[in-house]
Amino acid sequence: MFQPLARLPDDTILGLMSRFRDDPSPDKVDLGVGVYRDLSGATPILDCVHRAERLMLSVQATKSYVAAAGRAEFNEAAGELVLGSASPLAREGRVRIVQAPGGCGALRVGAELIRAAAPTATVHVSDPTWGNHTPLLGGCGLKLAKYPYYDAAAHELEFAAMLEHLDRAPAGDVVLLHACCHNPTGADLTLQQWREVADLLERRRLLPLLDLAYQGFGEGLEPDVAGIRLVVERVPEALIAVSFSKNLGLYRERLGALIAIGANAQEAETMRSQVLQIARGIYSMPPDHGAAIAAHIFGDPVLRDEWILELMAMRQRIVDMRALLARHLRERTGTRDFDFLESQRGMFSLLGCSGEAVARLRDRNHIYLLGDSRMNLAGILPGNVAYVADAIAALERPAG
Ligand code: LMR
Repeated sequence: MFQPLARLPDDTILGLMSRFRDDPSPDKVDLGVGVYRDLSGATPILDCVHRAERLMLSVQATKSYVAAAGRAEFNEAAGELVLGSASPLAREGRVRIVQAPGGCGALRVGAELIRAAAPTATVHVSDPTWGNHTPLLGGCGLKLAKYPYYDAAAHELEFAAMLEHLDRAPAGDVVLLHACCHNPTGADLTLQQWREVADLLERRRLLPLLDLAYQGFGEGLEPDVAGIRLVVERVPEALIAVSFSKNLGLYRERLGALIAIGANAQEAETMRSQVLQIARGIYSMPPDHGAAIAAHIFGDPVLRDEWILELMAMRQRIVDMRALLARHLRERTGTRDFDFLESQRGMFSLLGCSGEAVARLRDRNHIYLLGDSRMNLAGILPGNVAYVADAIAALERPAG
């Protein structure tokens, strides 16, 4: 039966992760997969997570099923983090939240919901976007199109071209937007640009599908969702896929949520029932371990404050490493060609070099970037920054 199937290449991001692991070089530097790293290069379990996990295990009396939608107190807290505690949408009964296995689970279930309602809708994704958006959204049969987003050579948003593309999209199409810390470019919309996008979505009757995987890694918990809030206040319907992999460091626990916003309470309830049935047919119920930990953190003022401080420290470390690498590159190249690293936000930036240069960095210097030159700035450490900057500065750069 399986003979006709072709052997597929490894996933670009996960494949690079194992390639890095297998590289015996003592000099190797992992700027590939998007995980946070501390000053020692480790991806630590947050202290608040350790404490909440111990607390959770000490009171947990059963491993029986929780509920189809996951843990209610986690869902409620996730909704508040994203939409705010005074959200008019929640007051109007237009919000439903379903826990999902990671942001990926939320995106896939959201895509299946869209396909059930509008099988011919096209999902417009930014060019470039996170590699896994294509299989997650396109894998259920939805058509994908790309809107211009970022000029990698100029290291700038292509905002006018983005608006021009979206203005031509037929009503009922879907627009995937990265809420903050755009993956892979690190270039986010300004608040004014979010306002213009919200205007356009409302006017053209397009459905926003908002991907929120890095809340707290850009400017802070509240500023990072300011764009989302502007959009959802303007449009009748929206979907938000939330991930807690990064901001709680719960990567392997697969903790996420799908927030469904309906035009009215009845529609929101219908969306929820559809989401639950879709999930039931794929993975039945989301895993609880991460949600139970998160619920303890969000529900306890002391643990919550501790989390906010730890999140701030992770964010600041990435900001510092961005500035440090940019400074080293200024010193080595005598140019400001890499200053964009300092102004972009979140874990990622596109270095802007060719695929051959990426291969050279990997094969000659054991520095691992994704093929499109995406680098995870959290992998830069005071101990490797000079080595990485030397290698980058030695690459041939396009004249200009
Ligand atoms: C990344 O972009 O590297 C992370 O979100 C990990 C993943 O699943 O791709």
